[in-house]
Amino acid sequence: MLETERLILRPWQDADRAPFAAIVGDPHVMRFYPNTRDRAAADAWIDKMIAGLGAGTSAFLAAERKSDGELIGLIGTARIDIPLRGNPPEEIGWVLGSQYWGQGYAPEGARAHIDQAWRRGLPELVAFTAAVNHPSQRVMVKIGMSRDTMGDFLHPRIAENHPLRPHVLYRITNPDNS
Ligand SMILES: CC(C)(COP(=O)(O)OP(=O)(O)OC[C@H]1O[C@@H](n2cnc3c(N)ncnc32)[C@H](O)[C@@H]1OP(=O)(O)O)[C@@H](O)C(=O)NCCC(=O)NCCS
Repeated sequence: MLETERLILRPWQDADRAPFAAIVGDPHVMRFYPNTRDRAAADAWIDKMIAGLGAGTSAFLAAERKSDGELIGLIGTARIDIPLRGNPPEEIGWVLGSQYWGQGYAPEGARAHIDQAWRRGLPELVAFTAAVNHPSQRVMVKIGMSRDTMGDFLHPRIAENHPLRPHVLYRITNPDNS
């Protein structure tokens, strides 16, 4: 569990399932993913995050707004399961409901995860997204990540010729290691 000025980042609860399904079922939120998720797929996504937390392979946490207890989305880190330049150990990522955009919540939660990653002794973190996903790349820049243009790649799980297949890679290095 992590806490920031406005957010609690915590493990998933059953009460998160309906609001999470609303977020990842929204075509506008998911416009940089190949598909939206129906309730079953949203539940499966939560189940995977719970399993990852239990196994210690991911920390994609529920992001809850302190002021009203609303689930605003997910923010977290996880081990990487696709080949990336330099074999980085973990990625950082986020998905928020659109009514919560533009208030700096994603950078705020991401910074807490980055601090936690450095406390865990990770040498670096990366983030990746579709080349056309400029809002997410803005978050990466705002939290101090730098684009690694040599790391551009075609996402192996997105169909050939799909417009979301070209991906960009951003990195941030643990300052204790430099
Ligand atoms: C990416 C995302 C998490 C941004 O979170 P956020 O908490 O709104 O972050 P910020 O408030 O710092 O805004 C970041 C950028 O998002 C864009 N943005 C903000 N509000 C927006 C809105 N209402 N509509 C469209 N873009 C918006 C802006 O480019 C902003 O940059 P700026 O601060 O320089 O203007 C959010 O857009 C999101 O969940 N998108 C859908 C899921 C997704 O693509 N996740 C990433 C997959 S890798």
